[in-house]
Amino acid sequence: MGETLNSFSLLVGLVASRRQVARTLFVCSVGLAFGSFASGAQTAELADREGFGLFQQHCSRCHGVDGRGGEGPTLAKPRLARAQTDEELAMVIARGIPDGGMPRNSHLSEEDTDAIVSFVRSLTQVEEEPLTGDPARGAEVYLDNSCDACHIVDGVGIQVGPELSEVGLKRSAAHLRESLLDPNASVPTGYEFLRARTSDGTSVEGLLVNEDTFAIQLRDASGRVHSYEKAELEGLQRRRGRSIMRPYRGRLSGQELDDLVAYLATRRGGDQQP
Ligand code: HEC
Ligand code: HEC
Repeated sequence: MGETLNSFSLLVGLVASRRQVARTLFVCSVGLAFGSFASGAQTAELADREGFGLFQQHCSRCHGVDGRGGEGPTLAKPRLARAQTDEELAMVIARGIPDGGMPRNSHLSEEDTDAIVSFVRSLTQVEEEPLTGDPARGAEVYLDNSCDACHIVDGVGIQVGPELSEVGLKRSAAHLRESLLDPNASVPTGYEFLRARTSDGTSVEGLLVNEDTFAIQLRDASGRVHSYEKAELEGLQRRRGRSIMRPYRGRLSGQELDDLVAYLATRRGGDQQP
């Protein structure tokens, strides 16, 4: 984590300083060519450059340096489900998507928000990452591997992990692939994995459901909830950064993985493709 943060701030630093130079050069050349009269198109281009730097600062951590997605979805597509107009986009930036894992940006000025909006809109020319797998075959892989023992899609399954009915709107294909190969790499908030050991020597591993000063509840991989008084526990181990979902690296063939990613990437709620 420390390492990621470091290289991230380094990247932001680099981008910020390159942006400064690029901007100075750009403003100079516009100034030379047109005096102080910049046309609408040039103003838009300035805003894009401004927006690029702001995007790196506030958004790239989740949406990728080029906006093609990471922990967050790709923004490089012609139509954004939750931000169809520029006003909606500005609203999403300001308010975030609290239950979807996107933070608010209420501190951004209107100018900065506009610059980011204009930068995000300029990404629509970028092509969406192609999906090589077959979603219909992916649906079979999903069932064959009992993913529904821990996930709900369109009302079917058991909710141990996050619901996946709209996961294609929320995550990039690259992130979905990573979640399958190495679930420990990025455990979303709200899925704390614990091991409880009782005084009679049994131990239970599961996700935290509820906790207060005296009691704790865990949900194990089969969906069963265990309640304990803390006083009766011999030990309680918090397994930070560990997932209850076992890695599928080596358990799925390359083709199965491609198909499964295609299936997940097309889970888009009402916007569903086959
Ligand atoms: C901490 C990670 C994170 C940061 C930082 C972040 N986002 Fe997001 N963003 C997400 C996630 C996750 C979603 C999907 C949420 C959902 O759909 O439930 C999302 C969704 C969106 C959407 C909706 C996409 C669609 O297809 O409708 C837009 C637009 C967006 N983000 C823009 C931005 C912009 C612009 C910034 C920077 C100002 C930003 N985000 C910063 C995580 C982040
Ligand atoms: C034992 C329960 C369990 C099983 C089985 C399981 N998962 Fe998960 N999954 C989880 C949990 C819990 C999370 C939440 C984060 C974490 O702990 O990694 C998760 C996270 C995910 C994510 C990331 C979601 C996000 O929003 O980032 C995806 C995608 C996913 N699982 C797909 C699958 C698929 C596909 C299968 C079957 C091949 C599967 N899971 C099997 C429990 C499970």
